[in-house]
Amino acid sequence: MIAGRELPAVRHLYLHLPFCVHRCGYCDFVTAVGRVDEHAGYADALLAELELERHRLTDPLETIFVGGGTPTFTGKDALARILSALPEASEVTVEANPETVTPELASLMRAHGVTRVSLGAQSFRPKLLETLERRATPDVVRRAVHTLRDANFDNVSLDLLYGIPGQSASDLDADLADAQALEPEHLSCYELEAKLGTRFTHTHGAELRRQAEAMESYFERVVETLTGAGYRWYETASFCRRDGGRELRARHNLAIWRGADYLGLGVGAVSTLGDERQRNLPSVGRYVAALREGDIPPRELEQLDAPTRAVERLMLGLRLDEPLALDDANGTVDRVALERLVDGGLVERVDGGVRLTTRGRMLGGAVTAELLA
Ligand SMILES: C[S@@+](CC[C@H](N)C(=O)[O-])C[C@H]1O[C@@H](n2cnc3c(N)ncnc32)[C@H](O)[C@@H]1O
Ligand code: SF4
Repeated sequence: MIAGRELPAVRHLYLHLPFCVHRCGYCDFVTAVGRVDEHAGYADALLAELELERHRLTDPLETIFVGGGTPTFTGKDALARILSALPEASEVTVEANPETVTPELASLMRAHGVTRVSLGAQSFRPKLLETLERRATPDVVRRAVHTLRDANFDNVSLDLLYGIPGQSASDLDADLADAQALEPEHLSCYELEAKLGTRFTHTHGAELRRQAEAMESYFERVVETLTGAGYRWYETASFCRRDGGRELRARHNLAIWRGADYLGLGVGAVSTLGDERQRNLPSVGRYVAALREGDIPPRELEQLDAPTRAVERLMLGLRLDEPLALDDANGTVDRVALERLVDGGLVERVDGGVRLTTRGRMLGGAVTAELLA
């Protein structure tokens, strides 16, 4: 228990490192371009926030996820200081952009307890990488994986995007083949979303809307190809190798999909702590200034009532290939809709819980929406 509060200690920690070399047109994450002279000050602020919040955390933790932005673009000294200050954890993931992965960076991460690297490949087709304004060419993506392997990383995940304007079905097949050739332990395949207010949406939004229907078949292609190759489709967009008894699902994300509490530190980071959601505001300047003064960073607090938590739990839990206990979703599920979806072969009852069938998972959000009372 945390001193003075009836909250169990938190076992999952997220850290946000916002700096990127360049802002990709499709991205709406909290990022800051360049600003290399601010990386050290940001690390100081992040470490100060960690000290303010450390009492909430178990030691050791179960999982840590260092995301961005481009965490691996952060100055080496700053990154090393951050990683050395963290509690131990069974899984420590760092998000990396391929062009930043050098042998020095890989050894720095190994030496500081990183166990897993999530690499943003996005595509292996040069013209699509150009459309996405990515800095890494396909060979740079491949070289990054080899560099990580040379540093003995045995848990590498690749992010891929599909639905990129101009991407044909055979481009997608080729991307999936190129990704598999690198034998990643894990793959995340996301449909490219037109995020409100991004340059990309301004330029390509109409095209993304036009191709929306075709995306169902692209999604099926991704699932069929990767499950056919032996990957476990354990979450809507996530696939992992089946490797004997080894856990190759992303344990950090898995905990969140299962509804665990997590603490998020850094600019724009979100935490869910019992019935409270906390969101640090997205300004790097204000974040650093507040922590320099020893204050908590500017943040919004939101109270989560029981029905909101139950709906979130259902929406996240049904992304997984494991059953969701219906007790957790009491009052949230429309029982008549549930029977209809079971009869229609979109939902199945397993071990006292429910999960979506393969067909149900292909339809995803639409089935979940129908289940909600
Ligand atoms: C937080 S981003 C940062 C990762 C890293 N900086 C990079 O660019 O590879 C994590 C992942 O979100 C996905 N992503 C970013 N913008 C997206 C969008 N508009 N639609 C779908 N997925 C997106 C990408 O696959 C990306 O690898
Ligand atoms: S996609 Fe990645 S590299 Fe590009 S701006 Fe977003 S966080 Fe930065």
